Amino acid sequence: MAGRIPPQFIDDLLARTDIVELIAGRIQLRKGGKDYQARCPFHDEKSPSFTVSREKQFYHCFGCGAHGTAIGFLMEYDRLGFREAIEDLARRAGLEVPTEGAAMPTGPDQAPLYALLEQAAQIYRRQLREHPEAPQAIDYLKGRGLSGEIAARYGVGFAPSGWDFLLARLGADPAARERLSQAGLITEQDGKRYDRFRSRIMFPIRDRRGRVIGFGGRVLGDGKPKYLNSPETPVFHKSRELYGLYEAQQARRKLDRLLVVEGYLDVIALAQFGIDYAVATLGTATTLEHLQVLLRSAPELVFCFDGDNAGRGAAWKALEAALPLATGNQSLRFLFLPEGEDPDTLVRAEGQAAFERRLQKAEHLSIFLFNQLKEAVGDTITGDGPMRLTALAKPLIDKVPVGIYRDTLNARLARLTNIAPPPQGRTGRPRRAVQTRQPIRLSLVAQAIALLLDRPQLAAEVSLLPNDWRRLDNPGVQVLVQLLDTIAASPTINKGTLIERWREHPHFDYLQRLSVAPFLDAIPVDGHAAEFIGALQGLSKEVRDAERVRPLNRRSTADWTEEMREQMGREAESARIRRH
Ligand code: UTP
Ligand code: MN
Repeated sequence: MAGRIPPQFIDDLLARTDIVELIAGRIQLRKGGKDYQARCPFHDEKSPSFTVSREKQFYHCFGCGAHGTAIGFLMEYDRLGFREAIEDLARRAGLEVPTEGAAMPTGPDQAPLYALLEQAAQIYRRQLREHPEAPQAIDYLKGRGLSGEIAARYGVGFAPSGWDFLLARLGADPAARERLSQAGLITEQDGKRYDRFRSRIMFPIRDRRGRVIGFGGRVLGDGKPKYLNSPETPVFHKSRELYGLYEAQQARRKLDRLLVVEGYLDVIALAQFGIDYAVATLGTATTLEHLQVLLRSAPELVFCFDGDNAGRGAAWKALEAALPLATGNQSLRFLFLPEGEDPDTLVRAEGQAAFERRLQKAEHLSIFLFNQLKEAVGDTITGDGPMRLTALAKPLIDKVPVGIYRDTLNARLARLTNIAPPPQGRTGRPRRAVQTRQPIRLSLVAQAIALLLDRPQLAAEVSLLPNDWRRLDNPGVQVLVQLLDTIAASPTINKGTLIERWREHPHFDYLQRLSVAPFLDAIPVDGHAAEFIGALQGLSKEVRDAERVRPLNRRSTADWTEEMREQMGREAESARIRRH
């Protein structure tokens, strides 16, 4: 478990994040007044009721009620956990997520593991120059056409033969040996430890920050297994990492395109020929996590596969993983190589320009999708062909986020089959039931909180008012007081940042919901201050009335807990009705 993220960091992070930019990277936003509008990505709709406010750093859909901050959006849309969302935003902002050490249990410090892996990489690199067995390794690399310069850029090294080459150098004491084992550099069998990598060309795998996290090792000839990779370790997760991404990012300040290939040597050979924007998965299928990383790194992705059946199969898997992230804002294409070639052999044979011409002609995701389906169905024109094509295509298209791109796919399917698409708004599965419930009349304290959350600057009005309402003993009043304290300390705080401060509070969901309460829309923009003042004055009056009647232990009509229970109860009720 990683430690708690300090609230100050979340504030800083949100200050450097623009929710409009973040959301515009995923769905198409249109400017309307000072806010931005779109068709809601969380439910099906024809006309846009999804609004993003730069000033408030908050989004809200008037149709389905979806709402939240930049962090909340990533959690909902990309389906990330809170921590992942923070890490994602931090990466964009170029910040490192700190953890609060003392109070909460923190994860183990991985620094020694990274240091050890870096040491190992340096030792392997040195052997390529110094070790008596080095000439064979150098001959092998030369035979594959790699220059010394490109080998150095990718940190290529050599693990000599022998069972304890690394063990003897880095495993002086039991603690060091334990660490070598944790790093995946040695293995254990029958109580004996020995080097995992022996007589192999070593490819260090770096994370996006350039830290060595694992290795791939290739035999010098035709031995088996051809490649040996680091096992999963606390710092190395195959399903997440892409070989060559760090190097590609080092080569170009801004990546316009990433080429996704299968092998280490494909990446390196392409770089040797000037195509320095290739990355490889590590002997695994392309995962959703890979795709998220890739889509964040470049606006255009080309997946490169063998032209054989295995290659088509792997491409199809990548396509299926990509559908939930396909918005049409980024280009996703598939390139199939001639039978028997891989990027390494091909770029060597025909050079950079010819290879890049192939990239230009790569199939767009939608073309690949329909071509494969048409092939599976055979006759798509007569008999039950159109229906079978629809049955195959529909579940796939429904994985695409609601939006123009999905509509385009549906339209193409309709053209292909001559079956009219179902009316908009009824396609797909809405992820959220549209709220039809009547707005609940809010108590005064809830009204005051809703207004303040939505416009923190209303706090300025408070100094002019009597503050006897603070004597009310109910949790809602405590929330209100705390909100005012926060705003007094950060007078320019925006809605999103203010709300994020409450994420770990048990009332977080309720507070967020209050901040978009329908009653707010009923008040004209210039009426919010008056409404806020009115609510506080009303509360003060309640206190005085209550104290006249029952000086002690009064129960205010503004009982927050009861109100919340009521609202939650009503929602449960309306959900029950919707289900029937
Ligand atoms: P390939 O067999 O296509 O490798 O495997 P390649 O890069 O073309 O190898 P060369 O050109 O013969 O040197 C593609 C990827 O699959 C993983 C590796 O990540 C490799 O780069 N792989 C392959 C393994 O993990 N183990 C293996 O035994 C083979
Ligand atoms: Mn190859």
